[in-house]
Amino acid sequence: MFDYRQLDDPQQILPIATSAFALRLAEQSSADAWLNDSVRDGRELFGVYEEDRLLSGYMLYDYRMRLRKSVIPMGGIGLLCSRLDARGKGAVRRMIGGCLKTMQEKGQVVSVLDPFDESFYRNYGWEKFSRLQCVEFSPGLLAVPEEVGHDIVATDLSYPDEASMAFYNDYAATHYTLAQRHHPEWHSRTRLLSWAQDTAARGVVRFNHGEHVVGLMGYDIRRKTGEYHSTFAVNLLAYRTETTLRAMLRYIRRLSHQVSAVHLELPMDAHIWPYLANRPAKNEIRDMFMIRIVSIADLDGLGIEAPDLTLGIEVEDPLAPWNEGAWTLSIDSGRLAVAQGGTPAIRCGIGPLSSVLSGFSSFVEMIAAGKAEALESYRGQDLPKTTPFLADYF
Ligand SMILES: CC(C)(COP(=O)(O)OP(=O)(O)OC[C@H]1O[C@@H](n2cnc3c(N)ncnc32)[C@H](O)[C@@H]1OP(=O)(O)O)[C@@H](O)C(=O)NCCC(=O)NCCS
Repeated sequence: MFDYRQLDDPQQILPIATSAFALRLAEQSSADAWLNDSVRDGRELFGVYEEDRLLSGYMLYDYRMRLRKSVIPMGGIGLLCSRLDARGKGAVRRMIGGCLKTMQEKGQVVSVLDPFDESFYRNYGWEKFSRLQCVEFSPGLLAVPEEVGHDIVATDLSYPDEASMAFYNDYAATHYTLAQRHHPEWHSRTRLLSWAQDTAARGVVRFNHGEHVVGLMGYDIRRKTGEYHSTFAVNLLAYRTETTLRAMLRYIRRLSHQVSAVHLELPMDAHIWPYLANRPAKNEIRDMFMIRIVSIADLDGLGIEAPDLTLGIEVEDPLAPWNEGAWTLSIDSGRLAVAQGGTPAIRCGIGPLSSVLSGFSSFVEMIAAGKAEALESYRGQDLPKTTPFLADYF
């Protein structure tokens, strides 16, 4: 009854998305332009049809994301929605099954999405992955010592130049769970959209030491309708040394005559408080993306910073049957080897396994919470946790 396939025409998703996301009239023309740009940039749309009628759809992004110590293909899922009159008929469940097959065929090893509701996606095998800290304060609160002899020069750009892009990709390949960015990703990170009504400007600040780029800051400048004061919202601080971070913070402090608030989105292990003279106005933790292994077999060869170990796992994954059954995971000199079969020591669904593999959680935590079951042969083997952080939105 349902037919899963690539959309006959990408424009077919617009009326469904308009009602599913309640896009207002003023937002609809820019949704149209955004869709055209997305398709031009290589995003693909898939959906479920009942005869010729599209019931549900989603957009697939082809990312390369760092996971543990390797950069691997990742399928990003966005714009997932269904017709109002098709709700509860199973079209989305059917579509997610198709989506997993599509990603497997494309060689995407894991999939990441920003959930509107975690339990909805947990049901389909995605599990918690990334979390960030949002710190908000007045720029005058920054107390960063001036340094002599560190001539770092800041340049504001509405779009990153080649040197900034190269710096970012090099940084993203070695830090957190960042995704590589090329023109499509930078366009979507810097373009102004009518539904982000408060955003007045977007761009990056490049930090140079001599001819070398040593840091990159991504930002939005926001002002709410009817308000005079603006906010400098930093969505990325890519730096390798404390000296560069200090130069970045001094740059932000110098904006104190223009912006009344600074909003920083930071990975959980970043510590800004030593540079704040007082408690920030806001300091909150935001749960972000969820992750799912698309293909366990394709994790073979992943670089992992962990002591050598061998662990048998019995995996449950009815939506992606190629993952089901017994697997042996071994780490040897920082490389993961994946083999089918073996004696399982842990039994779990694909979701908890995904969260542990991503570095967000651990087997010990999953077992304690009843999300994984320790079998007789389990000897406490585990993977170290890391700090997942993805700075792209889709
Ligand atoms: C979320 C959404 C995609 C679900 O679509 P749908 O057509 O109802 O999907 P299905 O019929 O395949 O049902 C999917 C699951 O949701 C459950 N569900 C559907 N409607 C529900 C409701 N009103 N309350 C609780 N659960 C519901 C179903 O039981 C089903 O679970 P199952 O697969 O375990 O059986 C749809 O409601 C939607 O488009 N919402 C607005 C846009 C949105 O928020 N998208 C997500 C962006 S990340």
